[in-house]
Amino acid sequence: MGAGIVHVFLAAGSAVTLAEADADRARVGAANVEASLRKAEERGKLAEPAASLLARLSVVDDLGALPTDTALVVEAVPEKIELKLAVFTAVAARCPDAVLASNTSSLSIAELAKGLPGARVIGMHFFNPVPVQALVELVVHDGLPDRVVATARRWAEALGKTVIEVRDSPGFATSRLGVAVGLEAIRMLEERVASAEDIDTGMRLGYGWPMGPLRLTDLVGLDVRLSIADHLATRLGPRFNAPQLLRDKVARGELGRKSGQGFFTW
Ligand SMILES: NC(=O)c1ccc[n+]([C@@H]2O[C@H](COP(=O)([O-])OP(=O)(O)OC[C@H]3O[C@@H](n4cnc5c(N)ncnc54)[C@H](O)[C@@H]3O)[C@@H](O)[C@H]2O)c1
Repeated sequence: MGAGIVHVFLAAGSAVTLAEADADRARVGAANVEASLRKAEERGKLAEPAASLLARLSVVDDLGALPTDTALVVEAVPEKIELKLAVFTAVAARCPDAVLASNTSSLSIAELAKGLPGARVIGMHFFNPVPVQALVELVVHDGLPDRVVATARRWAEALGKTVIEVRDSPGFATSRLGVAVGLEAIRMLEERVASAEDIDTGMRLGYGWPMGPLRLTDLVGLDVRLSIADHLATRLGPRFNAPQLLRDKVARGELGRKSGQGFFTW
């Protein structure tokens, strides 16, 4: 998700700093951004050559190296609240004027904002693949100044995205509904109601979904979906309990597209 977010900001004309946790990951992150831009370039989707966009990209392996005048920080670290809080604490000290946006799929924005100086934490939820998906879900909580919401909306619209605004609540609008359907599809597979292919085809051709719920789970990542489901189960109750099949697949390393195997072979 981080690479996709960097891609769209570069394509919209911004100068971007990609921050990773260490030098190896920084190299992988930069390579992912480059691959994503080259693919878009081959398909004629970029207004500028990929090389000119890459000239506006800096890569650092330490949050302490972010430019202090950064206007917007979007974090896309794994879905663990301690990790996201640690990132925001470091960034808030380094970039005093930045709007701090989280790409979290489910965690409470108010909890991420707690203890940070200045009311400037907002949810800015992008969708996978970021350069293709047209939506940004802005997640707002009480006490967030209208000015911050308006700024985040302007940033998202400058990327060519359509914005929906959702009150801070577990899973917001999109993850709550999307995960509910995804978990039910996995339970149906466990109960041998139909094959993965047929469950997905049913939703595609019967309900007009562009992609079935199991293929979408593969695309998102089974580990990512499991973290979200576990969080939603603690906040919204047992209807979000993860099916055993999902836990087993994650334990076996079958994480979906990124590992080559999920509910489908990629
Ligand atoms: N996968 C999706 O389809 C999707 C969609 C929308 C939102 N999200 C959300 O985006 C976030 C990231 O998800 P992902 O699927 O891209 O996860 P991922 O595991 O693919 O990527 C996480 C990235 O964070 C980096 N990272 C880990 N610790 C770090 C640290 N301390 N400092 C800096 N970087 C660090 C990792 O190196 C990696 O590049 C999660 O909050 C997830 O819920 C994911």
